[in-house]
Amino acid sequence: MTDNAPLAGKRVLLGVSGSIAAYKSADLCSRLSKLGAEVHVVMTSSAMHFVGEATMRALTRRSVMTDLFDEPHSDRIAHIDLAQSSDIVVVAPATANLIAKMAVGIADDILTTCLLAVPKSTPLLVAPAMNSLMLEHPATQHNLATLRDRGVEILATGYGVLACQDVGYGKMAEPDEIVTAINLMFSNRGDFCGKRVLVTAGPTREPLDPVRYIGNRSSGKMGYALAQAAVRRGASVILVSGPTALASPPGVELVRVQTAEQMLAECMKAAPDCNVIIGAAAVADYRPAKVADSKMKRQSGVSITIELVPNEDIIAALTSHRSPGQFIVGFAAETDNVEQNAARKLTSKGLDLVVSNDVSRPDAGFDVDTNAVTLHWPGGNSEDLPLQSKLATADHILTRIAAAMSHV
Ligand code: PMT
Repeated sequence: MTDNAPLAGKRVLLGVSGSIAAYKSADLCSRLSKLGAEVHVVMTSSAMHFVGEATMRALTRRSVMTDLFDEPHSDRIAHIDLAQSSDIVVVAPATANLIAKMAVGIADDILTTCLLAVPKSTPLLVAPAMNSLMLEHPATQHNLATLRDRGVEILATGYGVLACQDVGYGKMAEPDEIVTAINLMFSNRGDFCGKRVLVTAGPTREPLDPVRYIGNRSSGKMGYALAQAAVRRGASVILVSGPTALASPPGVELVRVQTAEQMLAECMKAAPDCNVIIGAAAVADYRPAKVADSKMKRQSGVSITIELVPNEDIIAALTSHRSPGQFIVGFAAETDNVEQNAARKLTSKGLDLVVSNDVSRPDAGFDVDTNAVTLHWPGGNSEDLPLQSKLATADHILTRIAAAMSHV
């Protein structure tokens, strides 16, 4: 395998469920086969209303699995064998129904049974396709979040006129985007082997009294995605996280903190052994000067003033104690003058790279699953990355860090 042909010889299990977007999976199948992948297609009965088994068989030159009880080899159980022998599993399109089944572990046909037998270490990519109301439904959003927490890569859906003539999100990612995401998942596996990576994530909470705090809108998703992507690429990862609702990504050493001072202490402890440090946390710049011992009482009509004192800048403290060869990355959450503010943070904090995100966009920054960031390098070069999932953004960032570290 070379980096130029990461798919050559890889076994891809392509699951197709019943959406009109199934016609695009024929194109996806063809592209994957042309790139040298060994594609094994598993279709639900609903999928076969939209695209024929014969089409997939012709494109892969392999029989297509459509029935749980269809056992081509008497010495092996087909769905277990397929799930365990695949290098990657891709579900495209994934309907709301299929996603719901995956989230709760229902195995009632050949595809869902295969999916339940996929080993934890096998990358799993899901390309949803559905009506925008179905996508926005809290049940679907909850199911997608469950899958994400389990380490499943969920591709963002596109915006446009849907098959039902509604306009909104819900279009399946295009086959070329899916191929790019698959390539990305393979091409750099192992390039962080032997590296220790420290990631900060989430908000900090600065207490005012036993029940109140000053916080911010960070969900931790960006930092957790970075930790997850670094582990997949072979790094040993310590994730110092403020309070979030997220589960620890598999294989990551998670240290939970509440305040900026606690985050600083944990980072200073971990940093000397780390080759790469990435500050994705939204750290409070200030904390209340005094924390009340008991709940502050409301006094009707009386204003109160809270004195705030500055927190230490964690990432700047880490750069000023930098170990030899350490590569340190900061984020910049901006609403205006993104370019200038990022350039200023690069210099003032002594960073090797700043990743800026325009958090005024509804689809980027705080508490969403996607991000659109710009990388700012010393010397003034910058690179815009497209709007993509936070995991794909994380992978892109790690690719650039690995390249920059190999040049020093
Ligand atoms: O968590 P999500 O919901 O996924 O949202 C992701 C994100 C928007 C939080 C993330 O992409 C992001 O931009 N993180 C940095 C947020 C931020 O606080 O930016 P800043 O411009 O205020 O800080 C610049 C850098 O200094 C950051 O690396 C920050 O971690 C660091 N910093 C800031 C203050 C401080 N006291 N100590 C720090 O280390």
